[in-house]
Amino acid sequence: MKSFEYCCPTEIIFGKDAELKAGKKIKACGASKVLVVYGGGSVKRNGLLDRIGTNLTTAGLQYITLGGVKPNPVVSFVRDGIKLALREKVDFILAVGGGSVIDTAKALAHGVANSKYDIWDDIWQKKVEIHKTTPLASVLTLAAAGSETSDSAVLTNEETGQKRGLSMVLNRPRMAFMNPELTYSAPKFQVACGIGDILMHTLERYFSKDKDNYMTDFIAEGLLKNVIAFSHDALEKENDYLSRSEIMYCGSLSHCDLTGLGRQKDFSVHKLGHELSGKFDVTHGASLTTMWASWARYSYKTDIARFARLANVLWQIDEKDAETAALKGIDKMEEYFHSIGLPTCFSELGIGVQDEKNISYLADMCTDGGSKTVGNFKPIAKQDAINMYKMAN
Ligand code: NZQ
Ligand code: ZN
Repeated sequence: MKSFEYCCPTEIIFGKDAELKAGKKIKACGASKVLVVYGGGSVKRNGLLDRIGTNLTTAGLQYITLGGVKPNPVVSFVRDGIKLALREKVDFILAVGGGSVIDTAKALAHGVANSKYDIWDDIWQKKVEIHKTTPLASVLTLAAAGSETSDSAVLTNEETGQKRGLSMVLNRPRMAFMNPELTYSAPKFQVACGIGDILMHTLERYFSKDKDNYMTDFIAEGLLKNVIAFSHDALEKENDYLSRSEIMYCGSLSHCDLTGLGRQKDFSVHKLGHELSGKFDVTHGASLTTMWASWARYSYKTDIARFARLANVLWQIDEKDAETAALKGIDKMEEYFHSIGLPTCFSELGIGVQDEKNISYLADMCTDGGSKTVGNFKPIAKQDAINMYKMAN
């Protein structure tokens, strides 16, 4: 096991009506004026935003709202939001939504507390290291990105087409209000994409060069099995609290780092997928399932036994020949993605067949023009990225 330092300070408030505890808890943090950030309007339509507003007011808090965060959130929105938050002198940020809203809120929080720096040019590009942020909490409406407890946030610069993450402990929110019932109104495709993303956050930690990490393996495998076991109910049964709560809990566990402690994470599939979202604005979870099987078939020889073990754990594949088991396991995962309505190639993702020029562009973006490799399980150079994009084409 590799040495590690782990700090996940986010307080989780989980269960029915969890969001109604927000006002009192935020007030107890010493806040007086809250910026409530939300997305394209789902929380307005289903009445959640009004309930949160009443809850904050009842707790003696002032608040203003900032709506309009888009999926694959963009830097220009954050820059405008920082100006608003500074003008209004807010001292707490509450994200009400999914990963895009929470990531936007994280960027706002950093921008407000470090207003002499530009959020993208300085903070996101890591030209400066920041040491403070604005206190932040979220009311989660979609089990997916895990941003409610994660140490990362992802923004897209619409001028350059770059979709880039920033990881640091300051990204871990103070609190996460997690009521599985709030996910009932999410479109089925978004729920499926969330499930794909949750699985991927653990898979991207499971395939690592670092060996001998038994506890973490068991946690990771338990999580993957549980998500797969409850995913069909979450998608098919209406308002099913049991499956929605299991998936929501797994969403946070999968990306808070617990499933990868003691080893280096890989995250190549995320990098390959982010470039698809940066160029074609596709949904994050779908971009990942589009690339996973191509990545796996391209990389499995790095550790055939690991792929064979996963095939056995998840799909009870028991073959004498490890390579046969590994390949059958990849096929089975691909079948599973299809069974929950997720794409595994470009045409299913809805971006058609791409020409050589576009594939080369994606590979360039992924590897900074061929100057970097991605991941550590099988480090991906530009030509590897080209090969994998071609396999998914
Ligand atoms: O914007 P609204 O109207 O709220 O609608 C959203 C949006 O259209 C809708 N939705 C969410 N909850 C709903 C709902 N509609 C009805 N009822 C509900 N209860 O779903 C759509 C997608 O929302 P979004 O927030 O974009 O989804 P998700 O949570 O999957 O977040 C994706 C973003 O998170 C980033 C992704 O790259 C992407 O930008 N990620 C963030 C990570 C992190 N911070 O740690 C890690 C992840 O790997 C990921 O990269
Ligand atoms: Zn993800």
